[in-house]
Amino acid sequence: MKFSFKQLVHKNSGFVALITFAILLIVSGCTPNDPQSTFGIGGPIARQQADLFILIFWVAVIVFVLVEGALVYILFRYRHKKNNPLPYQSHGNTRLEIIWTIIPAIILAIIAVPTVKGIWDQQSGVPLDSGEPLTVEAIGHQWWFEFRYPDLEISTANELHIPINRPINFKLQSEDVIHSFWVPKLAGKVDMMPVNDNYMWFIAEEPGMYYGQCAEFCGIAHALMRFRVIAESETDFENWVDGMHTPPVLPKNESEQNGRTLFTQQCSMCHTVDSYSPGSYAREITSQDERWTSWVNDIENSVKVSAPNLTHFGLRSTLGAGLKEFSAENPDNLIKWIKDPSKIKIGTRMQKHANIYKGGEANLKDEEIEDLANYLLSQKPNIK
Ligand code: CUA
Repeated sequence: MKFSFKQLVHKNSGFVALITFAILLIVSGCTPNDPQSTFGIGGPIARQQADLFILIFWVAVIVFVLVEGALVYILFRYRHKKNNPLPYQSHGNTRLEIIWTIIPAIILAIIAVPTVKGIWDQQSGVPLDSGEPLTVEAIGHQWWFEFRYPDLEISTANELHIPINRPINFKLQSEDVIHSFWVPKLAGKVDMMPVNDNYMWFIAEEPGMYYGQCAEFCGIAHALMRFRVIAESETDFENWVDGMHTPPVLPKNESEQNGRTLFTQQCSMCHTVDSYSPGSYAREITSQDERWTSWVNDIENSVKVSAPNLTHFGLRSTLGAGLKEFSAENPDNLIKWIKDPSKIKIGTRMQKHANIYKGGEANLKDEEIEDLANYLLSQKPNIK
């Protein structure tokens, strides 16, 4: 019995459709438009790494086609059949063995050159001709990112503002377990280790929002540990820096006023909102350390835990470490977050340790939760 290729496809059309769908699904992951695609290159480090990937990819494709092609050919040509001859027996052929040892060695040597150069460029620090670098200390916590700008005396969380076309020098740390700092469009991932600092740098060439994600399994909310990089023009960045050093607008109504009182009573033990005055940066670092020590010394009962700095929270657009978006016009997610954070993000330490969450949901009236949200949304620099 003989089958043509056409008949074969026809007989197994369901299977062929499934394979085609699977391939399309995999290939669709390569679109540079995806917010976390490494192919959506946003700067020189990302470009160097993507070029290296493409080089290795095509070398691998050629090797795959040649090796698998030869294998498939031989399987069919010499399959067990009456008239088929026994293939040439090459065991112990020194010349062939030398050839197939040397060829892979040459291929690996070719790949090694740009790989070592890439590692060197990334790890030897910012090149002198790329401009004055900005230093950022990024600290991983279960499960959010703290960002400190030691030279600008700013401490913030989960939304990292950077100027475009200026190298950003990162010192990566972790307060608890191993996390990994990854902004796919700007650079490959680098681990954030407790005790041992790691370093990396990148440049964003275009203004925009770049998505980041923790890339090392770090506990129950690992998949929900995200952040965003907001790359902006030098002027916009300076305005943001000035704003972060300016006190917020005063409460405009009774709701914001109530919210402020509630915040001071219930939230301010862990969340700072006043890191805008001289000296407040040093104070925040000390407080953050104290909260951590308090928690680590009594993990079950501590009433304090390391927490994101919420200074000028009204400038932000995401909550729960880049998980949900909100705005003054649409504060629903913020209200839901305050009411029952673990509904949005499993494992939040806020819910476990803050007194108002004894028993689960916040022990607050709906109006009080709205007051808190209104107060947080109002936290913006008082600049005309
Ligand atoms: Cu932090 Cu995964």
